[in-house]
Amino acid sequence: MDIQNLLDDIVGAVQPHVGQGNVADYIPQLGAVDPHQFGISIATRDGDVYSSGDAHVPFSIQSISKVFALALVLAFDGDGIWKRVFREPSGNPFNSLIQLESEDGIPRNPFINAGAIVVSDRLLSVTGSAALAVRDLMRRETGNSTVAADHYVAASELRNSHRNASLAHFLASCGNLENPVEAVLESYVEQCALAMTCEDLALATRFLAANGVGADGTRLLSPAQTKRINAVMLTCGTYDAAGEFAYRVGLPGKSGVGGGIVAVVPNKCAISVWSPGLGRSGNSVAGVAALDEFTTRTGWSVF
Ligand code: DON
Repeated sequence: MDIQNLLDDIVGAVQPHVGQGNVADYIPQLGAVDPHQFGISIATRDGDVYSSGDAHVPFSIQSISKVFALALVLAFDGDGIWKRVFREPSGNPFNSLIQLESEDGIPRNPFINAGAIVVSDRLLSVTGSAALAVRDLMRRETGNSTVAADHYVAASELRNSHRNASLAHFLASCGNLENPVEAVLESYVEQCALAMTCEDLALATRFLAANGVGADGTRLLSPAQTKRINAVMLTCGTYDAAGEFAYRVGLPGKSGVGGGIVAVVPNKCAISVWSPGLGRSGNSVAGVAALDEFTTRTGWSVF
């Protein structure tokens, strides 16, 4: 298969969707991004990289960081995190408060905000900084030592974090945070504010398509842990649209409100797409369309 040709074709095919949806505007830095951009990259299990469109433009990875935080907690700390967060799809928006009270402060899964805050809390306890641990993992896997958080995005998000602060305080009231609310929120927003390109993200995600083996050949996760992260991405990675995403794309995937999505073809490759216009559930409209196109054309899906 000529992967480069395929990616160039997909860039053409998704053009009608580029600019559709709404750019996240809860902070000015995200609201100012030009919606008429689309990029796609693939990193194969063997380390080959293919890119097309705006694949070299950095964007805010936001919730995509939650996958890497979870991978680090599992790698450093094993399965203990599963006592503090469930693994079921929520069927609710990513920042919903509603289930947390009736479910005794145990978030439905590690990818909704409540669950990701618990994971960042644990990563903070284990490493001293969730944000730096995630950043360093990204640098190592991409070989790009300039990967960094956009501090304007982080500061602005912190000023507008009433919803996440209420989730964090509720978690704390249930005894499900180990660190002070302020420290956890700071670390969480900093981790979300990492700026990366499609190409960076495809390379960073590659270990999930390689049974847990990182770019330098060292093992980050066991094959079983890798399988489990991919399973949680499939069922929970795109929130209350996870069923639709599985139907259309048929791969484990994780979206972010910056318009990025990463997806994993186990044992083959990692794919990253980016286009800032979001659908109702916070997933990139053109990004989902591109992944749909990709799996439909290649047959590379887990189904
Ligand atoms: O915590 C938040 O709400 C944002 N930092 C991230 C949310 C997000 O990316 C949801 N994904 N689609």
